[in-house]
Amino acid sequence: MLSPSTLATTSDIERAAVAKSRPTLLIVDDEEGPRQSLRVVFKEDYNLLLAGDGARAIELARQNKINVAVVDIRMKGMSGTEVLEKLKAIQPSVEVIMLTAYETVDTVRQALRLGACDYLNKPFDISTIRKAVATAMERHSLADEIQSNNEKLQALQGELHNQRLQEEIARTRGEIYASIIHDINGPLTIISGFIQIINQRIGESKRLEGEDLDMIKDRLRHITRQVTNCIEISHRYLSFMRQQNIGATRVWVNQILDDLRELLTVHPSKGNHRLKIQPLAEDVELHINGTDFIQILLNLAINGLQSSPATHSVDISGKVLTGSVDLSHVQDGPHDRIVNYQGFSHAPPTLLLSIWDDGLGIGREVMPKIFEPYFTTKAPGKGTGLGLSIVHRLLRESNSCLHVCSRPGEGTRFDVYLPAFAKR
Ligand SMILES: Nc1ncnc2c1ncn2[C@@H]1O[C@H](COP(=O)(O)OP(=O)(O)O)[C@@H](O)[C@H]1O
Ligand SMILES: [Mg+2]
Repeated sequence: MLSPSTLATTSDIERAAVAKSRPTLLIVDDEEGPRQSLRVVFKEDYNLLLAGDGARAIELARQNKINVAVVDIRMKGMSGTEVLEKLKAIQPSVEVIMLTAYETVDTVRQALRLGACDYLNKPFDISTIRKAVATAMERHSLADEIQSNNEKLQALQGELHNQRLQEEIARTRGEIYASIIHDINGPLTIISGFIQIINQRIGESKRLEGEDLDMIKDRLRHITRQVTNCIEISHRYLSFMRQQNIGATRVWVNQILDDLRELLTVHPSKGNHRLKIQPLAEDVELHINGTDFIQILLNLAINGLQSSPATHSVDISGKVLTGSVDLSHVQDGPHDRIVNYQGFSHAPPTLLLSIWDDGLGIGREVMPKIFEPYFTTKAPGKGTGLGLSIVHRLLRESNSCLHVCSRPGEGTRFDVYLPAFAKR
């Protein structure tokens, strides 16, 4: 059997529960008289904590959650304003009422500046201090509510952010898969072109020798190169998905321009269109991976070749800029688009490479969308809408930028600005 003293009565529990749910009032005064009279006034309404000096008040604030504090401004040792400052540092939401006697307006102002919510002149009457404490309690619970709502909101925002991040990752993955297929499709088209040529030659001749054999050997070399390209492309994307970078990030321009000419000559989009690729007068090395660079050029050049069904020209030429590049006068508009100018930061020299066509041009309603993934104005099977979005990504990754300028009926020019190495 339990002895009566160990049994908690219902009223004990109730009282404890009430005490727990009651707000806490801290009274800080170094004079016994006012401290006790405040205790008597408030003992029924709040959990009371009493402190005879600043140090004790701070100690209590470290151990208990306090809603409101009533602090005498003039105390021996730590002054009331100091106590106020420390209380606020420990519990920023605590509301503090200062008790003042002969203080100057300045002292009172300072207390208010430090976050006191009210001040009462001593001696005070009971109803005034009751009202002041009740108002402070209300302020505190409102602030508490706002704070807790804020925390909930922040948690929700965090969750949403995470969700968006997940979606973004999924979207990026989807785009990368599509990009792999798109990019590998280029070399595959070229491979199949070469294989067709080889098949024709083999079909026509009974035995392979001399020129035919040399020609086939040469074509096989191209094929091998393209197969290597395919492998490199898939490696690059897979490593991108693992967030790492592989491959050298420097390349000579004229070699790539030679490759580009070779690739485009056998590309189905070439048709009867005139293609002029001018090597640089003086070769330069770029801060970019070779496969990335050729992807940019291929996408832009193929778009140029596809810019009109009628016979037209595509010109590719470049020049090295030794001064800093200022495109601040160029604005996005019906005829212009500028891409990754913010991300373009490096010391000169810069290679300006222009891919220019005199095709149909880009209409003002189409211009804002051309870099969006999957946006295409081409017939199904002809366009995937991925070329320029891939170019966009590669420009970002290589800190390069682009300015496209187009007039319907006149043609389009893509100016690409690529960071180059200074001459050694
Ligand atoms: N040189 C150009 N001349 C005219 N329109 C172009 C040119 N380059 C791009 N465009 C427009 O931008 C769109 C998107 O290009 P892109 O992303 O390469 O996808 P795709 O070539 O598969 O359509 C094209 O469908 C076309 O409308
Ligand atoms: Mg394209």
